[in-house]
Amino acid sequence: MTESEFIPSLYTDDIEAGEVSWSSPSNIALVKYWGKYDPQLPANPSISFTLDACRTSTKLKFSKRKLSGNDFSFDLLFEGKEQPDFKPKIELFFERIYTYLPFLMDYHFEIDSSNTFPHSSGIASSASAMSALALCLMSIEKKLFPEILTEDFNRKASFLARLGSGSACRSVEGGLVVWGEHPELPGSSDLLGVQFPFEVHEDFKNFHDTILLVDKGKKQVSSSVGHGLMNDHPFALKRFEQANANLSQLVPMLQSGDLKGFTKIVEHEALSLHAMMMTSMPYYILMKPNTLKIINSVWEFRQETGLNLTFTLDAGANVHLLFPDKESDEIYEFIKNELVAYCENGHYICDRVGMGAIQNPN
Ligand code: PMV
Repeated sequence: MTESEFIPSLYTDDIEAGEVSWSSPSNIALVKYWGKYDPQLPANPSISFTLDACRTSTKLKFSKRKLSGNDFSFDLLFEGKEQPDFKPKIELFFERIYTYLPFLMDYHFEIDSSNTFPHSSGIASSASAMSALALCLMSIEKKLFPEILTEDFNRKASFLARLGSGSACRSVEGGLVVWGEHPELPGSSDLLGVQFPFEVHEDFKNFHDTILLVDKGKKQVSSSVGHGLMNDHPFALKRFEQANANLSQLVPMLQSGDLKGFTKIVEHEALSLHAMMMTSMPYYILMKPNTLKIINSVWEFRQETGLNLTFTLDAGANVHLLFPDKESDEIYEFIKNELVAYCENGHYICDRVGMGAIQNPN
């Protein structure tokens, strides 16, 4: 597969104006993507659960410009308000995808987005936001070329979403999604996310992810800066090898339902991600004291009960707690009684594995 596959041939239809809308979920990586090459190609493969409750809903209105210029024309609303801060990111996204969506300069766009989770929750919204926008743009392309097949539509949406924010390419489809070439995963690609190519054990089909909001503030080092720091990182090559090896081990576990093995790999990945941050130059720590308190409580709980409660971390202080549905009653009790105390204002979000993005009715 090459990038040229995503350059469209001539459009068959013409359209003056319209409106499309998609709701796209966030995702949580089990094997983490950390480090990249231009243009948004991952230094190692990653795999994630697509979530369900944490989503971005985006409405995109488009109207033909009288004269299509050499620039992009768009207005941006987030949660009903103009967001000049977000505009450069969208501008850059449009520049990156223009070759693949040549209609972008022919229309004026009004982008109107909102999240189901609070903006200042420390939850990264770039995956859900960029995938929702990519899907909206694909819906416009479908109006211009209605013959496009659903599979090609989703693949190109994921390809475009990746150029907005790497992990966004894993938010188009549901369940387990792989991004990045891996020899044991047929069909895997650096260019886009694909669904896990093997049968998944029942236990992993309806996994829970309860997100403990430890720190809702803006983190002091962004993910793009963090990825950049992997370029000269002394442990980078070992880390990329480790991620490949962890994914190799996880693949059979996801098929056989090996919950204990899953915990080992997923927690190892979370701590390795943060170890990279702590050993970058400049070095930094995104975990907070309560992040560590939660991790220790999870380990104690597992020791005492033998239940399969696993933590993972994003590039931030919040903790994602992963567990199978069959153990959810006891685990929810533990979360409510012991862990909510470590959350900022007691806030947490109960999420679970979802089905992927959905088109909103107009
Ligand atoms: O897609 P980005 O640039 O926001 O990077 C995401 C990085 C992690 O969330 C830490 C890991 C991952 O694979 O999602």
